Amino acid sequence: MEELDTEDEPIPTGGEPLGDRQHAWNETLAVDDDGNHVPPKHHVLRYVNLADGVEPADARDPFADALDALTDAIAWSPEGLLFTVGYSPAYFDRFEASLSDSVDLPAPRELPGPETNVTLDEVDMLVHLASDRPDILLEAEEGLFGEAADVNGVDVPDMNGLVSFPEYDRRTGFVGAGLPADNQDIRGISGEPVPEDAPFFMGFRSGFAESQPTEDRVTLSEGPFAGGTTQHVSKLDIQLNAWFSQENHHQRVAKMFSPDHAREELVDGVGENLGSATGVVPEAMEDLIENAREDGVVGHAQKAASAREDGEPIILRRDFNTTDDEQAGVHFLSLQEEIEDFVATRNAMTGEAIAEGSGVGSRVNNGILQYVFVRNRGNFLVPPRRLQSMPTPTGTTEQPQ
Ligand code: HEM
Repeated sequence: MEELDTEDEPIPTGGEPLGDRQHAWNETLAVDDDGNHVPPKHHVLRYVNLADGVEPADARDPFADALDALTDAIAWSPEGLLFTVGYSPAYFDRFEASLSDSVDLPAPRELPGPETNVTLDEVDMLVHLASDRPDILLEAEEGLFGEAADVNGVDVPDMNGLVSFPEYDRRTGFVGAGLPADNQDIRGISGEPVPEDAPFFMGFRSGFAESQPTEDRVTLSEGPFAGGTTQHVSKLDIQLNAWFSQENHHQRVAKMFSPDHAREELVDGVGENLGSATGVVPEAMEDLIENAREDGVVGHAQKAASAREDGEPIILRRDFNTTDDEQAGVHFLSLQEEIEDFVATRNAMTGEAIAEGSGVGSRVNNGILQYVFVRNRGNFLVPPRRLQSMPTPTGTTEQPQ
């Protein structure tokens, strides 16, 4: 595979000084011919706890040094390494002080709609590492949490004894044209249904410029964590075989985008012709119910767009495909100012009112819900870089514990 070829190449170093937003990735991402940001190809999510008896203050300096070592050792870019460190409500619960009112970070929970047996990820921290090169992700992981004493030649403190790892400590994935097709040889998938050029398993492009908010829109504007953001990460299983065998292109387009997109043949192949926008017109929920009565089907993008505010989506999607546990899926990672913005968007996608007010089912003909099953949910605060190592709930470095 292409990525094996890069292993002997030096790891890129250097680059511009970093700003205070950990999630400010867009300025360094490539932009495709249509003006859409191109996400890094490979991703690792490391779920991490503070070890028993270790206080945040004990781990703060070594972890800050370890994170600094990563940015000193590897260029901040998709060719090098991009990362964020997030902290869960469970992490903040150990302090006497409560989390600043300026941050909306509830514990994760099952959301309304057809969700059952969702595992709630109540680990302390989530480190999201992303790069075009899997070998760089391994180098970073080994330095941060493994046995290596350096990252690309830069000394890194040993976090051994300060942190521990839950059972599900490592999740991985990929995104980009060709990668899903290359990785479709997994449990439950017969034949090779995933189109060669699809960037996502379900066969369509996603993350168009006009259906993503700016990083500004998802950044906390006030309070001690100003410059930070919140992160929701869910793991979704996709019933890919059924998606490709029970539906034809026309039906897939109707369910992913909208019935109008199918009728008017607006989506060629994986959606190469769409440019930088799906052409979905944001409609109010009442209009979607009305449309669903006429069409008997409602599109995923159409529903999700009903959650826009002032014409702009409210969650920044940085999701990627996975074959963890030999199961086709998505790690749906989104950034938003408040977790409530994610919940509102997810409620729009669930479309309960549509199922109640039309012939569309709670899953059947209701966007892609028949094929997508939530397995995990977790909520995190991604603080500004100045507070990225073991923040206190009030954003000070003193100890209000
Ligand atoms: C298997 C899982 C999913 C797949 C394959 C998927 C795929 C897509 C595709 C192809 C689009 C249209 C292209 C684009 O606008 O970028 C889209 C739009 C969107 N999706 Fe999803 N999606 C998934 C899950 C979710 C989830 C869990 C949410 C959050 C609740 C979500 C929220 C959105 C939003 C906000 C948009 C943009 C709507 C707008 O234009 O305002 N998606 N998705």
